[in-house]
Amino acid sequence: MADLVSISGLSKFYGGVRALSDVNLTLNRGEVVALVGDNGAGKSTLVKLLAGTERADGGDIRIEGQLVTMESSRSAVARGIHTVYQDLSLCDNLDAVRNLFLGQEEISGIWSGRRLRRAEMEAETQRILASLAVKLRSLNTPVGRLSGGQRQGIAICRALVTNPKMVLLDEPTAALGVSQRAEVLALVRRLKDQNCGVLVISHDLRDVQEVADRVVVLRLGEKVAEFNSGEYSSQDLVAAITGAHETPAGGFA
Ligand SMILES: Nc1ncnc2c1ncn2[C@@H]1O[C@H](COP(=O)(O)OP(=O)(O)O)[C@@H](O)[C@H]1O
Ligand SMILES: [Mg+2]
Repeated sequence: MADLVSISGLSKFYGGVRALSDVNLTLNRGEVVALVGDNGAGKSTLVKLLAGTERADGGDIRIEGQLVTMESSRSAVARGIHTVYQDLSLCDNLDAVRNLFLGQEEISGIWSGRRLRRAEMEAETQRILASLAVKLRSLNTPVGRLSGGQRQGIAICRALVTNPKMVLLDEPTAALGVSQRAEVLALVRRLKDQNCGVLVISHDLRDVQEVADRVVVLRLGEKVAEFNSGEYSSQDLVAAITGAHETPAGGFA
């Protein structure tokens, strides 16, 4: 069977800058792949190409074997790819229910003519929150008043409204304390258990080692390493990220 997502030879230039060069990557259902790399490695560029907010200059993206072009974020969502950005894109003054369905009423099929059916949206919100074990005291609290972990949870639940095949998470634990970080890593595992493919970008190598089935390392726009869970050390990861294992020409071994 074809991979859920298969990227081959993906390239992107910004003027003279080679942001991404000939990158290959696959992701399957029920798999967590971490994407790591130093600043400027091309992580965000890869996310933007998959999320449909930027166009590739070369290469292919296939979903379940079918060649796709991502014209917009809407087309990515329609093809089953949902992205949770680092800023979470939540509306702080609205509650969890409104945030989950914001702009997705039609995609989720819960739109009925002019009025949104609040009761249906609440029931669906409760179901999705429960499926990822996200706990809120009330569905009516403006999300601006919730904790960082709860907000990240709601942003991930928002992805599930459209029943995605793949969820892209950009630095999901970056702004969180220790216990909230653990909560979010548990969410990632539950997405995996729901048979989603998860591509997670993280600076935190502990996160990566805890949740990823595979780790893909980018450096200066190129894929320089790929490790399977349990087959690498922290040092291997750091060396690949920084390029420290390479001896510069004329340098010391
Ligand atoms: N909109 C842009 N215009 C010009 N250069 C960009 C733009 N976006 C990214 N780049 C460049 O592309 C490279 C990869 O950036 P990025 O994908 O943001 O890396 P990362 O997310 O891994 O830090 C960097 O050299 C960056 O400066
Ligand atoms: Mg980035």
